[in-house]
Amino acid sequence: MFHLTEEHLAVQQAARDFAQNELKPGVIERDSKGLYPTEQVRKMGELGFLGMMIPPEYGGGGMDTLSYVLAMEEISKVDNSCSVIMSVNNSLVCWGIEKFGTEEQKQRYLPKLVTGEWIGSFCLSEPEAGSDATSQRTTAVDMGDHYLLNGTKNWITNGATSKVHLVMAQTHVEKGHRGINCLIVESDWKGVSIGAKEDKLGIRSSDTTSIMYSDVKVPKENRIGEDGFGFKFAMKTLSGGRIGIASQALGIAAGAYELSVAYAKERTAFGKPISGHQAIAFKIADMATEIEAARLMVHRAALLKDQNQDFDQAAAMAKLFASDVAMRHTIEAVQIHGGYGFVKEYHVERLMRDAKITQIYEGTSEIQRIVISRNVLNGELYVAMP
Ligand code: CAA
Repeated sequence: MFHLTEEHLAVQQAARDFAQNELKPGVIERDSKGLYPTEQVRKMGELGFLGMMIPPEYGGGGMDTLSYVLAMEEISKVDNSCSVIMSVNNSLVCWGIEKFGTEEQKQRYLPKLVTGEWIGSFCLSEPEAGSDATSQRTTAVDMGDHYLLNGTKNWITNGATSKVHLVMAQTHVEKGHRGINCLIVESDWKGVSIGAKEDKLGIRSSDTTSIMYSDVKVPKENRIGEDGFGFKFAMKTLSGGRIGIASQALGIAAGAYELSVAYAKERTAFGKPISGHQAIAFKIADMATEIEAARLMVHRAALLKDQNQDFDQAAAMAKLFASDVAMRHTIEAVQIHGGYGFVKEYHVERLMRDAKITQIYEGTSEIQRIVISRNVLNGELYVAMP
């Protein structure tokens, strides 16, 4: 099941080279100053990392989800501002349009999204609708040939830089979540305004903002799917997104682990490398084991998606586990590095700060537990292999 082909290995190597050679040199400065990685995102587009799963007829790489998670892991070992930009553009925006959009929508948006000429954002969260995503207050009033969009979205990754917004909004309040639509909105349309960039604990150089919509006219042809499909669209797309964030968390853990192993072999204390002390060696054993388990879960979720099987449960489990592994083992990585772990130069403190968001965005760990437990308790007893 987990055999990597020559193509997979080539993608993995390309992402590793790009991350180590082109992202690592400036990552500390970008993080501490909160500088958006303009040049690095441009290069990711050029190398094909922004539309990996999109068919070649729209300019994409035509690759499978496994290739995508392999690339995400390598990039996330180094720069998680870049990898979240990549993840939202690939799994939420490009995949959402490709899977559920009309031919006209695909033709208009995908070719520019896959090259990075345009960047996308996924606008679901609101000031009072984060985890409770059915309670959308943003409205899309049906005006005949267009919708009139009003409301505020919060915590939007790529908020200031995205040209293409996928906006969830309520059209038929009386129908609850079945009255929600997803509209494709362009950032330069009249009535769209962007809030200030959030000053964050981690992923500090990616731009996270609120977005305000005031009487924005959205043509009917920019609705994705049937009237009222918006909430299901959001849920299905987010499941794919959770595989992306799980692979980000995996990369964070693996990056911290690789740095810790190298440091433990080099640093001496009490007359030998610290890796020779069981206190450190056992931490490394736990890291290696749990990271391998997380990797198997991420790859399995990706494979189920590639095989057109139901992947919601596997995605939720992979994100829940990998994000906890990332948090737990980046804390251990800082501990292994001692005082050096507490300063920016050694990279592990940044990975520790970045790890936290993987337990929060695209559904908190608590939301993943809701998804997993409902599937189990509704009688679909989860069995990994038939
Ligand atoms: N696929 C298709 N449909 C789905 C689905 C899925 N995976 N999951 C739920 N649905 C459907 C249900 O079938 C139901 O439809 P029907 O009533 O027609 O059958 C509908 O959606 C509502 O589902 P629930 O009754 O389960 O709704 P709920 O309110 O009880 O719970 C939830 C839903 C799982 C808690 C959901 O609200 C959720 O996932 N919340 C978290 C939202 C989230 O992840 N936000 C992240 C923001 S995006 C982000 O972070 C992007 C970024 O910029 C990085």
